[in-house]
Amino acid sequence: MEQLNVQTLVIGAGPGGYVAAIRLGQLGQKVLVVEKEKNLGGVCLNWGCIPSKSLIQMAKSYENTIVKNKKMGIIAHKVEIDWEQTQKWKDKTVRSLTGGIAQLLKGNGVSHLEGIAKLTSPHQAQVTNSKGEIFEVNFEHAILATGSSPIEIPGFSFDHKNILDSTDLLELKSIPKSMILIGGGVIGLELGTVYAKLGTKVKVIEMMDQLLPGTSKDVAKVVEDKFRKYQSDVFLSARAKSWKEAGDQVELVFEHEGNNKRVVADFICLAVGRKPNSQGWGAENIGLAIDERGFVMVNDCLQTNHPHIYAIGDVVGQPMLAHKASKEGEMAAENICGAHYSTEDIQTVPGVIFTDPEVAIAGITEDEALAEGLSIKVGKFPYAASGRAKSTNETEGFVKIIADTEEVVRGVEIVGSHASDLISEAALAIEMSALLDDIALTTHPHPTLGELMMEAAKVAKGEPVHILPPKE
Ligand code: NAI
Repeated sequence: MEQLNVQTLVIGAGPGGYVAAIRLGQLGQKVLVVEKEKNLGGVCLNWGCIPSKSLIQMAKSYENTIVKNKKMGIIAHKVEIDWEQTQKWKDKTVRSLTGGIAQLLKGNGVSHLEGIAKLTSPHQAQVTNSKGEIFEVNFEHAILATGSSPIEIPGFSFDHKNILDSTDLLELKSIPKSMILIGGGVIGLELGTVYAKLGTKVKVIEMMDQLLPGTSKDVAKVVEDKFRKYQSDVFLSARAKSWKEAGDQVELVFEHEGNNKRVVADFICLAVGRKPNSQGWGAENIGLAIDERGFVMVNDCLQTNHPHIYAIGDVVGQPMLAHKASKEGEMAAENICGAHYSTEDIQTVPGVIFTDPEVAIAGITEDEALAEGLSIKVGKFPYAASGRAKSTNETEGFVKIIADTEEVVRGVEIVGSHASDLISEAALAIEMSALLDDIALTTHPHPTLGELMMEAAKVAKGEPVHILPPKE
């Protein structure tokens, strides 16, 4: 068995692990990253953020070509989808990024092993590669960045034929005629929208009384209204009960409004949340503290109950977001090298949902603030009143700013075009405890969607310029 001695072992090369490893390499550490998959980048790059955004962009371009561009006088006489080419393009995008990570690791002096790592003692791990070769790794510190996997519900196990997961949905051989989506959350709606735009009849079964639970109701409603326009069915407060094969389709029985109802489609996609990957890498061998939901327990410096072993990303808790994992990866790396960064210093981890229109949130939402009984000032400015939004023909949605009574910006919710790009100004404002005036008095260039933030801040102050004040 080959012996390897490193200062820090990183298990998992997703956006948490590979970023931590790069930072450790920059800080002069001898680092080894172990990843069980051939390609680096984890779920985000291989089966999540990047391939889904590629398909989302493709579906948007298609919709523009056949529907939206007509309004601007562009008539396309024959539009076809070459799905094989779409898949090739998506895969090439993914490959170029995962290949880039290998180069970044190498360039920062980080070693990489493909294989499965198992902790055998608090300072040792065994790595077994696909050829059956075993390496014993001795380490001073470790970072666990093992990510998360999709959840199943009783009676619905992924068989990748009738019951698909989100990875299957990214790799379909053809555009389906119909599909049932159990779960109207982030994954379900992002990918459901792709296929709905390409002509698939999508039927959403959502347990809660709104889509995208966790977002304010008025935000979710904008997305729901648009989604229903794609000839899709949305069943809220609905619970999936059982399914069976029906010829070459599947039939789902679900409970809705006190009745058992049935829907039939080509397949079911289950997108009801993700669970931490806290098994299979030897947590039990070192008595690692794991909570009742399976998350590895860490303190605010991201240390586990073995202080020299850190854990980051999806495996330590919500929100399960790539940028949160990367931020924690940098913090853990710095802390291993003597810094004292604390997760409590982070004011906000913004979230973005790439539906149509996009949703982006930083800080507290209006619904959360009201539920907590906080006194707040709220300013809402519609895209329909923006010159830029009008001229790009994307007028659905609004920007909403939530401030406390001292006018400190506490939260921003955006539903609308380019919400994903606009939210960074909000995150900076919240991190800096900006006042409404800081945003309202900053000159925002015209005509841009950036002006929506400025206008919403003015509305919150009771000084709207481009809309009339709400009637008393
Ligand atoms: P989710 O928590 O966003 O949505 C799951 C949905 O399923 C919820 O609406 C829930 O009410 C519903 N549900 C649960 N059990 C159900 C049942 N038995 N019947 C019907 N509905 C049921 O989880 P999702 O979409 O699987 O995403 C997992 C994670 O991945 C999320 O934490 C998300 O943050 C992350 N993600 C982030 C993305 C982004 O940042 N753009 C993209 C994709 C995923």
